Amino acid sequence: MAFPPSAQSMHAKTSSIWGGRFSATPAELLQDINVSLDVDKKMVNEDIEASLAHAEMLRDCGILSPEDYQAICQGMHTIMVEIAEGRFPFRRELEDIHMNIESRLKTLIGDAAGRLHTARSRNDQVVTDFRMVLRRACEILQDLLRDLQRQLHQKARDHTETLMPGYTHLQIAQPVSLAHHLLAYMEMFGRDRLRFADCARRFNECPLGAAALAGTSFPIDRHKTAEALGFDRPMANSMDAVSARDFVQEFLAAATIASTHLSRLGEELVLWASPHFAFVDLGDTFSTGSSIMPQKRNPDAAELLRGKIGGLLGAFTHMTTILKGLPLTYSKDLQDDKDVTFRAADTLSLCLRVAAAMIQDMKPKPEAMATWAQQGFSTATDLADYLVQTFGVPFREAHHITGRIVQIAEAEGCDLPALTLEALQKAYPALTPDVFTVLSAKASLNRRTSFGGAAPVRVQEALVEAQARWLA
Ligand code: ARG
Repeated sequence: MAFPPSAQSMHAKTSSIWGGRFSATPAELLQDINVSLDVDKKMVNEDIEASLAHAEMLRDCGILSPEDYQAICQGMHTIMVEIAEGRFPFRRELEDIHMNIESRLKTLIGDAAGRLHTARSRNDQVVTDFRMVLRRACEILQDLLRDLQRQLHQKARDHTETLMPGYTHLQIAQPVSLAHHLLAYMEMFGRDRLRFADCARRFNECPLGAAALAGTSFPIDRHKTAEALGFDRPMANSMDAVSARDFVQEFLAAATIASTHLSRLGEELVLWASPHFAFVDLGDTFSTGSSIMPQKRNPDAAELLRGKIGGLLGAFTHMTTILKGLPLTYSKDLQDDKDVTFRAADTLSLCLRVAAAMIQDMKPKPEAMATWAQQGFSTATDLADYLVQTFGVPFREAHHITGRIVQIAEAEGCDLPALTLEALQKAYPALTPDVFTVLSAKASLNRRTSFGGAAPVRVQEALVEAQARWLA
C-alpha cells in the first residue's frame, strides 16, 4: 500500500488516515489488516501452475472428472490471458490471490471451479506458490551475482600489476594489486551464489496436498504434483509442510550475507573515490552533485549499497520474529512472510545490478594507488622475511630488527627504500646493497607467491581458475 494510503487502497470512508479513526467500521479495519492481495498477486503465475498440476493429479487419481478438468483448464487459460492483458478483475474484498482466482474461475466455468479445491487448502497452496517463487528468485539472484563476478573479473584482468596498498585496521599493511583485491570480492560473491543454490536445493520439496495441516482423506498422489511442479519430492510431514518457513529464513540469511558483501564493497568504493584516497573515479553515471556545494561529486550509489543491508537484515529479523514461538501449524502471522521477502529480494537484485555497473564504470588511478602502496613502511615484512631468508635470523628477532629500521626511517622522515645502506646497517651491520631488492612495493608484490597470494603470477593463475569455476 502506498503511503499515505490512496483512496483506492483504503475504503472510501477511511481514505484519510486521520479520518479513519472516526469512521472505519470493524469490518473495514479487518479487511485493511487482513488483505494480502497487493503482495501475493505477484505469485499469480505460480498459483495457476500449481492449480493446474493439482487438477491434473485429481483427474488421474479419479477424484475429478475429465470434463471438470477440461473446464478448469479452459477457465484458467482465460484467466491467464486476462492477467497478461492487464484486465483481470482483482477484488480486494476477496482477500488474496487464491480466492481471486477461484472466484473468477467460478464466474467463468461455474460449478467445476468448486471442485478444484478438493484435497487442498490455502495453507498448502500458498506455501507451494511461495516456494516456487523463491526457487526462481534464487536462480535470478545467482545470475545477478555471476554478472557482478564477471565485472570484477574483467576489471581484475587489466590490473594484476596495478599496485595498491593492502590494509589491516585501515592502516597501510602490505602492497597488493587491484586485481587481487577485486578477486577477493569475486570469492565472496561466489559463496553467496552457493548459498542461494544450496538453500534452494534444500527447500525444493512440495507442500501441496498437505491440505489444511493433517493431509486428506482423498486418494491423492502427492509425488505426482511434486514432480509436475519441478520439486524433488513431496514434503514428508503435512504439519511441517504448512507451517515451516525456515526456507524463508535461509533465503533471507543468504540475502543478508550477500548484502553484507555489497556493503563492504560500497564502503570501499566510497573510500577509494574520496579525495583523500583518490584511487578511483566512479564516473559521472554513478556520482551525483550537491544541491548547495557546486564542486561536489558524491558517490551516492556506493553509499546506498553500503546502507541497504539495514533493510535486508531487517527482513531476516522480521521473519524470524514472526516465527519465534509460533505454535504449529498455520497462523495468519505467516501471511506477512511474502511482503518481507519480496521486498528483500527486490532490494538485493537492484543492489547487485548497481554494483556490477559501478565496477564496470570504475576508472582506477594506478599512480595514486602505487604511491600509497609504498607508504607506511609497507615493505617492512619483506625486510624481516629477507633477514630470515638471507641470514638465518629467527623471525621474531628479524621482526625486532626491522622495527628498529622503521624507527630510523621515521626519524629521517623517509620510507624504507630511501634509507641509505649505512642507516640500515645501524640496525643490522651484515646488510649489503642486495637488501634494496626487497624494499620496493613492486618487489614485495612479486614475492607474494604462496598459493592464494598477491603476486601477479599467482593472480594470473587465480584469474584462470576463477574464470573456470565461476564464469564458464
Ligand atoms: N493469504 C494467506 C497467506 O498468505 C493464505 C493462507 C490463508 N489460510 C488461512 N487459513 N486463512 O498466508
